[in-house]
Amino acid sequence: MSPSISHTTEKTMNDVHSETKFHKGVKHLHENGIEKVPRKYILPISDRPNTGKEQHSNRTNIRLPVLDFAELQGPNRSQLLNALANACEQYGFFQVVNHGIPIDIINSMIRLCKSFFELPFEERSNYMSPDMKTQARYGTSFNQSKDGVFYWRDFLKVVCHPLPDGHCHWPSSPRDLRKQAMAYAKETRNLFLMLMEAILESLGLIDKEIDVTEENDILQEFKEGSQIMVANCYPPCPQPDLTLGMPPHSDYGFLTLLLQDEVKGLQLHYEGKWLTVEPIPNAFVVNIGDHLEIFTNGRYKSVLHRVIVNQEKTRVTLASLHSLPFEHIIQPSPKLINEDNPRRYKDTNFAQFLEYISSCEPKKKEFLESIRLS
Ligand code: OGA
Ligand code: NI
Repeated sequence: MSPSISHTTEKTMNDVHSETKFHKGVKHLHENGIEKVPRKYILPISDRPNTGKEQHSNRTNIRLPVLDFAELQGPNRSQLLNALANACEQYGFFQVVNHGIPIDIINSMIRLCKSFFELPFEERSNYMSPDMKTQARYGTSFNQSKDGVFYWRDFLKVVCHPLPDGHCHWPSSPRDLRKQAMAYAKETRNLFLMLMEAILESLGLIDKEIDVTEENDILQEFKEGSQIMVANCYPPCPQPDLTLGMPPHSDYGFLTLLLQDEVKGLQLHYEGKWLTVEPIPNAFVVNIGDHLEIFTNGRYKSVLHRVIVNQEKTRVTLASLHSLPFEHIIQPSPKLINEDNPRRYKDTNFAQFLEYISSCEPKKKEFLESIRLS
């Protein structure tokens, strides 16, 4: 009998930790000049990006609606709100330009995220943890303790708001990352609030002229809401047709504000096809998450998206995920439910989502399906 049996609990914890450490991620594989995708990363044929009838569409770009955010403050606000409503109903995705976030804040944040992934592995690995609730967590794949097949991505995930202990947990290296991340988080939170205000108005839930107090109530809740940032790194992959950077998934929150560098990779599922989102320099790709789909009782849809990888270039992106406070109950707005449009989702909250993704392999829109009323 193995002598370790009597220390089962301790052994298990160590195992989890060394398992996590054992997978050094794809940046590490790339740095070691890997020439073939290891078996662990090879998807079953049906899940690969270039199979059969999708082959052609894989090279097709999608022209997402581009919203000029400056228009929101001017005389064309109502036209912009219409365009916003259309984008949310038709695509669940849009790009935002003229958003007012200074370009140097954006550029230095992307540059610092790139530098973080270029740190020696030993330094990055200090942030590896099997605990999904860690405030700053470095990892690989999607959910490395659950994924049957691994995805070609390394990531750094940091809770940015609210800060339970008042401390900002961004890594202290590279120098300036923490300072810049705090500035960037504040700017994106502001942009999120302005977008939510516009979205609530586009849904007829607030009217800037009339019920000022009600507007303040709901916006106040978003002000106290949660913000998690994820820096993603997709290094060059020797056989990009065998794997994906991220599986098809939807995001959990209200909105995700994504910054992508100049390298393509994000695809969304539109009219049965996977289409690539063309990067626009300094623009944000905004997409609707499950919580907003629930809140609108299905009117604005959270859309499946995935990431493909390429053989030539490292791609770095930064996603900022926003929702209501972590413990807040998410439910359809009573004003968007009536006899013709009955309630379609059960109550949920962030804790329930965390429990769900910790217990199974997250994919497709399964979480949303699990709370859908039949
Ligand atoms: C995400 C995501 C897309 C990308 O972080 O949820 O979908 O292109 N990212 O990195
Ligand atoms: Ni996503």
